Amino acid sequence: RMYKRLMTCRGDINSLNVPFLALYESLIPPEEEKAKQKQLLTLLEKLVSKEWPKAQLYLYGSCANSFGVCKSDIDVCLAIEETAMDKSEIILKLADILKSDNLQNVQALTRARVPIVKLMDPVTEISCDICVNNLLAVVNTKLLRDYAQVDARLRQLAFIIKHWAKSRGVNETYQGTLSSYAYVLMCIHFLQMRRPAILPCLQEMETTYSVTVDDIKCGYFDEVEKLRDFGRHNKETIAQLVWGFFFYWAYCHDYADSVISVRTGNIISKREKDWTRRIGNDRHLICIEDPFELSHDLGRVVDKSSIKVLREEFERAADILQYDSNPCVKLFEPY
Ligand code: GTP
Ligand code: MG
Repeated sequence: RMYKRLMTCRGDINSLNVPFLALYESLIPPEEEKAKQKQLLTLLEKLVSKEWPKAQLYLYGSCANSFGVCKSDIDVCLAIEETAMDKSEIILKLADILKSDNLQNVQALTRARVPIVKLMDPVTEISCDICVNNLLAVVNTKLLRDYAQVDARLRQLAFIIKHWAKSRGVNETYQGTLSSYAYVLMCIHFLQMRRPAILPCLQEMETTYSVTVDDIKCGYFDEVEKLRDFGRHNKETIAQLVWGFFFYWAYCHDYADSVISVRTGNIISKREKDWTRRIGNDRHLICIEDPFELSHDLGRVVDKSSIKVLREEFERAADILQYDSNPCVKLFEPY
């Protein structure tokens, strides 16, 4: 099918720059929201330190990776060296500590894949998930935030793609579609693969930042202020990039054999990763390598029926951007 199509987008694609940028602007969280998040974090730190003076709290996920839209929940990681208790015990204890304050709906979810405490702060009206010792997530949060500093088009593209995915119902991991984290990695990869490239591959550059977490060595170039004009030779606009993103996932990606890899800034083969067949619940129908946890495929949640949904949505989006007379409305139409 892809051969039948023109590889170029419609001539007036740039008329979409204004509406796309307006949408992006409207999704940016206002400063007071950031302040409220800080306020809640400070309260949590105070409560936690009474029980565990040496413990630390880190923000991760969209509230800290710069890909958060307004009114998002916050993700917090409790870093604690506690040998006497296992993770679920810590979670239960943490929930007890927080319940004693006037936080609302404090719930300990000890049996989730990632055990968390959920809560809502009535003062700031912010909801929050707290996990324990999930430091890889804190590190990949920094990686995403650093990539966002390199070229403004990444944040614009990712906001638009996340907004599209939420509108179309394909940002639901429990239904077999992809997480926000996966979509942001797809955007980074896409911009690394443009020619000229819009983003570098930070993990292939000189290591200026390095930590070891759960025996995984995480290192990359993090002096991103030095890379601010990296993408200057590529003049593609946001409208061209949104179109190109959907066109790539609709008609160009080799689902049978390719793994996208932000770590290498390239495509690698499923054979190389031994992701060619189903193992347990991991079907590897769309493969997105985690930048640090190399055995982790962010596409593992996708199954036989949801891969079809996803691919149809990519095609729908590409076709709307190509042919529709009012693409901006159609693209984000609730499903
Ligand atoms: P929104 O909450 O949808 O705005 O996005 P988010 O950036 O918070 O993403 P999400 O809730 O999907 O993930 C939160 C964080 O968990 C990510 O930013 C990663 O740091 C970390 N993470 C690591 N592995 C995974 C994974 O397999 N799935 C998900 N969802 N998150 C992961
Ligand atoms: Mg989140």
